[in-house]
Amino acid sequence: ARITYISPAGVKTTVEAEDGSTVMQTALRNNVDGIVGECGGNALCATCHVYVDEAQFAGLGPIVDFEEELLDCTSSPRKDTSRLSCQIPVTGAVDGLIVRLPETQE
Ligand code: FES
Repeated sequence: ARITYISPAGVKTTVEAEDGSTVMQTALRNNVDGIVGECGGNALCATCHVYVDEAQFAGLGPIVDFEEELLDCTSSPRKDTSRLSCQIPVTGAVDGLIVRLPETQE
């Protein structure tokens, strides 16, 4: 699946993601700046916060309780399209996904 990350300055990076990984892991593997992933994808840190493209947000499925709670702890403001990228699994269904990176994760 191809995933596009857009930096706060508008720089687009499109990479090939492996099935079975996550949108967070894919960013780290490809040295995409702007995602920290401090807790290693265990939904404990909120440093993998992204803004999903509005048109694609609903297609990612529901946000479960622990992610919902952690989304209130992000460093940059939470928006309607906020997700934790470690909780977005890579499958064929996310091919073409576009996520915007927040100003800061710290
Ligand atoms: Fe820590 Fe996603 S990597 S919550």
